[in-house]
Amino acid sequence: MDKTFSAVTGLAGTIRVPADKSIAHRALMFAAMTSGTSRITGSISGEDVHSTKRCMQALGAEFSETAPGELTVVGTGWEVPEEADLDCGNSGTTMRLLTGALAGRRGTFRLSGDASLSNRPMLRVAVPLGLMGAVVETSPGGRPPLTVRGSVLVPVDYTSAVPSAQVKSAVLLAGLQAEGVTTLREAHASRDHTERLLAWLGCRITRRPGEVGITGGPELYRHPGFELDLPGDLSSAAFWFVAAVLAPEGEVKVEGVGLNPGRTGILKILQAMGADLQIIPTAQHPEPVGTVIVRPSRLTATEVAGAVVPAAVDELPLVALAATQAEGITVIRDAAELRVKETDRIAVLAEGLRTLGAKVEDRPDGLIIEGPTPLTGGTVQAAGDHRMAMTFAVAGLISREPVTVQGWDAASVSYPGFLDDLKKVAG
Ligand code: S3P
Repeated sequence: MDKTFSAVTGLAGTIRVPADKSIAHRALMFAAMTSGTSRITGSISGEDVHSTKRCMQALGAEFSETAPGELTVVGTGWEVPEEADLDCGNSGTTMRLLTGALAGRRGTFRLSGDASLSNRPMLRVAVPLGLMGAVVETSPGGRPPLTVRGSVLVPVDYTSAVPSAQVKSAVLLAGLQAEGVTTLREAHASRDHTERLLAWLGCRITRRPGEVGITGGPELYRHPGFELDLPGDLSSAAFWFVAAVLAPEGEVKVEGVGLNPGRTGILKILQAMGADLQIIPTAQHPEPVGTVIVRPSRLTATEVAGAVVPAAVDELPLVALAATQAEGITVIRDAAELRVKETDRIAVLAEGLRTLGAKVEDRPDGLIIEGPTPLTGGTVQAAGDHRMAMTFAVAGLISREPVTVQGWDAASVSYPGFLDDLKKVAG
């Protein structure tokens, strides 16, 4: 489906974005692994989280919507069937985390996904899990589908080549099933939702700068169930932050949004570029939450590299878009991970933004953007990637001529209500 976006005269209003996708995946998975009944509230939407729910159902957990916005989950104590076919859809988080969580369960589990997921690298989890004694068979090129044959696991001390919360979580979830302490190290911290939630649920987690340790044990599987209210997704809110900064006038307020420090890179980058942002924390536990208010701002170029990259990894396409309107040359580097997301985001962004009139050069590990350049409009490809679809939609809101996004449907992977929220703020 194609969708066309046209310039707005301003953006104003208050919105609540869907529940944080990363936290929702983990909340649903962990609830399904307890021995009790859990209640998860928040506006859970998007096909990715549905993929996790479907897989956990195939593994024996029961899910019911007991009230609008309230999901009740009856856990399995992580007693799973001896065989299961698990369709992870478009969701790398579902596939990578489940691979670790199933590595020590008795049985044979086949994990598959759509065309985009079938192209994503899985050796990054298969290798450390293999060191723990897991049997994870990948398809040619280390890609999905995967077959996990549960085995006895031993702890490992592993340094991940790329900072990745998915790799870290797979290893920690396998570590829960190994006797002793499993340690995962990374050069720059990735989002810590897994270790936060596991510690909150009574698992033995130790944290030091650059490393997380987990002691194997049954705490999660014996847990009687929990209640958790999910914050809004900062990665979805980020579309409105950038749209509001670039809009000619107005003010957008996003309430109840997650402010986990492993995710707030986009706020730091926009502030460094001169954006007028107000961040009001409202709650802390187990995940920080708050309100963010954004107003139109004049931006200057910045350099994005190192530790901030994993903390803004899903928002770097929006940084690139903002940079097209910033004075000077913005450099994004250390971001080769963007090439192995739902699509090659460096290539798709560079081509799309150039089509719209921006001055963008792609590099193996990032982008160089010269601004400010007025965007002229045109037709761009979402390339089956939800974040590309919505980044180009935001580009349409500030382009001279309309922007048509081909393959708009991809947006429903994380933010099916994007167009409704756009109506709310665009008037
Ligand atoms: C996620 C981690 C990130 C992110 C993805 C969600 C998670 O991937 O890009 O959208 O929920 O753990 P990596 O950890 O592989 O960078």
